[in-house]
Amino acid sequence: MSNGITRWRVSYQRPVEYDIVEAPHLFLPQNQALLSAGRIEGGRRFVVVDENVDCYHGERIRAYFAQHQIEARIVVFPGGEENKTVDAYLGILHELDAFPIHRRDEPIIAIGGGVLTDVVGFIAGSYRRGVPHIKVPTTLMGYVDASVGIKTGINFNGHKNRLGSFEPPQRVLLDRTLLSTLPRRHLLNGVCEIIKLAIIKDAELFLELERDGAQSIAASFQNPSGEDILGRAIAGMLEELEPNLFENDLSRKVDFGHTFSYGLEIRHEALLLHGEAVLLDIMVSTLIACKRGLLSDEDTSRILRLVGRLGIKPQTRLLDASLMWQSLQERVEHRNGLQRVPMPNALGSCVFVNDITEQEIRSSIQMLNDWKIPENDRILEC
Ligand SMILES: NC(=O)c1ccc[n+]([C@@H]2O[C@H](COP(=O)([O-])OP(=O)(O)OC[C@H]3O[C@@H](n4cnc5c(N)ncnc54)[C@H](O)[C@@H]3O)[C@@H](O)[C@H]2O)c1
Repeated sequence: MSNGITRWRVSYQRPVEYDIVEAPHLFLPQNQALLSAGRIEGGRRFVVVDENVDCYHGERIRAYFAQHQIEARIVVFPGGEENKTVDAYLGILHELDAFPIHRRDEPIIAIGGGVLTDVVGFIAGSYRRGVPHIKVPTTLMGYVDASVGIKTGINFNGHKNRLGSFEPPQRVLLDRTLLSTLPRRHLLNGVCEIIKLAIIKDAELFLELERDGAQSIAASFQNPSGEDILGRAIAGMLEELEPNLFENDLSRKVDFGHTFSYGLEIRHEALLLHGEAVLLDIMVSTLIACKRGLLSDEDTSRILRLVGRLGIKPQTRLLDASLMWQSLQERVEHRNGLQRVPMPNALGSCVFVNDITEQEIRSSIQMLNDWKIPENDRILEC
């Protein structure tokens, strides 16, 4: 006040707390989990359900709310990246606005894959400046990744997740049985994110994938080893997310596979799922790490062999050095001026690098093309 200028400082901390709970057979009438938050007596719920999930479980979901005398407005929403749009966001918001819910004790319920939970999370975060929401992931991508954190988003102006927010859910309910109807391609899509975690932070998870991954995929993760892999993946994901929930630290291990994939995914939206693009990025990054002498030939070969062993056939023909280089430039903006690319330096650990060149990307793609992933069993020499 000595110079006559008055200043007020506002400082406030908002705690973030939510539970991620295993809740098998969620739509059985006697299962209370879906209604474990919010008012039941005279209660209403705005529920958004993925179109395919609605085909399999729609009747049971409607019966569930009817049985509990909850007035539910069920909105069916088609999954797929092409539906993660501003129009879809506004469309659901119109429906929500026409179905009044209490601001605090009638949480929106999102039942679907990563597209749906990202869109509905953003709706929950922006409607009346934030109403509670519950996420029920129904894809493997959602189960181990999209639903466990607090990021929401929609695509905008040709960019993925360009609009979005950090919006903690009130609860995340995990019903592994829902994965049993998931097509194999979408199971593998989620597996790519598990591979990512294994490489950069969890060597034991990598071993489990080598040993039990193929069998768990065949069992749609309904088997005991599948359960172990999922539990380990979620725990690892949370270990990374929780201490850096709002991404104050922009060097994030979980960004492994999310640098070059970004451009590939946008350019080839009709051909590449998110996890498929991430895996292409992982393979190129792995070879860059190998060529730099960060990662041994043997660990590099194990990573590439795992991909084949799990029955994944990466679309390496879509790799494009200049597109991936542009993608890296875009990520530099996102990461506030530095590349901050996680690179494995052993199985289960990584370092961050800031000096990747376009030539390195180009020669790693070349090497990958020469090597032929699924068939190859020999040790690759960088
Ligand atoms: N918020 C985050 O932190 C985060 C993290 C990772 C990924 N994501 C986002 O997740 C999205 C991808 O998610 P996704 O792979 O779940 O895609 P998705 O939501 O489009 O679902 C994939 C397909 O599976 C179908 N489906 C869903 N559940 C099913 C079931 N149980 N049985 C049969 N079919 C079912 C859907 O209808 C859709 O056709 C991307 O947009 C990505 O950006 C977000």
